[in-house]
Amino acid sequence: MAMAVFLRKKQWFYMFLLVLVILFFLYMDPFKSNIKRRHLNQKPILKSQANIPKLMISFKGRTGNHMFCYATLIGVSRRNNLLPVISADNHLWELFNLPVQVGNIGDLGDYNYYEEKLVAAYDQHTEHLGPYSTYIDGYFQSWKYFENVRKELITEHFIFHDDISQAADQFLIDAVTLKKKQGAVIIGVHVRRGDFVRQRSKGFTAAPVSYYYKAMNYFRRKYSNILFIMISNDVYWAEDNLDQGPDVFYSHNTPDQVSLDIAVMIKCNHTIITSGTFSWWVAFLSGGDVVYYHLYPEPGTSIANMTVRADYYPTHWVPL
Ligand SMILES: *[C@@H]1O[C@H](CO)[C@@H](O)[C@H](O)[C@H]1NC(C)=O
Ligand SMILES: *[C@@H]1O[C@H](CO)[C@@H](O)[C@H](O)[C@H]1NC(C)=O
Repeated sequence: MAMAVFLRKKQWFYMFLLVLVILFFLYMDPFKSNIKRRHLNQKPILKSQANIPKLMISFKGRTGNHMFCYATLIGVSRRNNLLPVISADNHLWELFNLPVQVGNIGDLGDYNYYEEKLVAAYDQHTEHLGPYSTYIDGYFQSWKYFENVRKELITEHFIFHDDISQAADQFLIDAVTLKKKQGAVIIGVHVRRGDFVRQRSKGFTAAPVSYYYKAMNYFRRKYSNILFIMISNDVYWAEDNLDQGPDVFYSHNTPDQVSLDIAVMIKCNHTIITSGTFSWWVAFLSGGDVVYYHLYPEPGTSIANMTVRADYYPTHWVPL
C-alpha cells in the first residue's frame, strides 16, 4: 500500500516535470526567439498615414520570389506615389530589417486589384496605378520594376540582421583560411538542383556540368588569385560532379541555413548563377560580374513562354 502511494508520488513528480518542460517551450519559445526579437523592429502604420493611398503585393513561393515582390513593391509604390505596406508575418523579416510600414489588407480601405500578365516580364500598366490604394498580385520577376530604387534596395532594405551578416563574414574567413587563399577574389557559385532537376519539362532547367566548367574557367582567365565558394541545395551531387581543385570550397550549410547561404553569396565579389530566383537575387545584390546559364529557361517551354529575357536578365550579365 505504502509502496503504491510512493509510486504514484513519483509519477506525479515526473508529470510535473513534463508540464514544466512543455510550459518552458511554450512560453520561452527557444527556437523562435530571434524571430520575435526581429518583429520588434516593425513599423506600424501611423494615424497620420491612415488616409494616404497604399500599395500591397502578394508574396508567393520562396525567399527569392519574395525578394522580387518586395523590390517591386518599393519600386512601383515610388512611381505611383503610394505608401508601401507588408504584413507582419512575411518571411523576409527573418533575414532583413525592412524599413516599411506593417499592416494588412484591411488598412487599404477601398482598393483596386491588379494581376500581372506574365511572371517574368515588365508590365508598364504598373506605372499608372495611383492615386488609389492598390493590391497587385503576381511574381513580378523583372529588374525593370525596381530599377528606380536599385541603390536604395541595396543600401537600406536588404540589410541582413547582424548575426547573419557576422556568420557570413566568419564563413568566408574560414573558407579562405582553410584553402590558404588570402587576398583571393571570391566567386560565389550557386548550384541549383533539387526540384529544378525534376521539373525540366516546364522549363526549370538545371545547368549541365559543362556549364560550370565553362563559367569557372571564364573567371580563372579573368583573375589570377581566385577562390570559388560552391553553394547548392544538393551538395553531394555538386561534390561528385563538379571541380574539386585547390581553388574550390564547398559549403555544407544545412537547408535551414538558407539565410546564411544567401548572405555568404552576396558577400562574394562575383557570381556564377544557374536558375531560379535565389540565384538571381544573390547575383543582383553581390554587385560584381555575373555569369548565367543561357538555356534557362529552356526555350519553347511554358516558363520560357512567360519570360521576356531582356526584362529578366540585366543587360550587363554574361550568358554562357
Ligand atoms: C571581395 O570580397 C571580400 C569578402 O566580402 C571583401 O572583403 C573584399 O574586399 C572584396 N574584394 C574586392 C576586390 O572587392
Ligand atoms: C510556347 O510558345 C510557343 C510559341 O508561341 C508555342 O508553340 C508552344 O506551344 C508554347 N509552349 C508551351 C509549353 O506553352
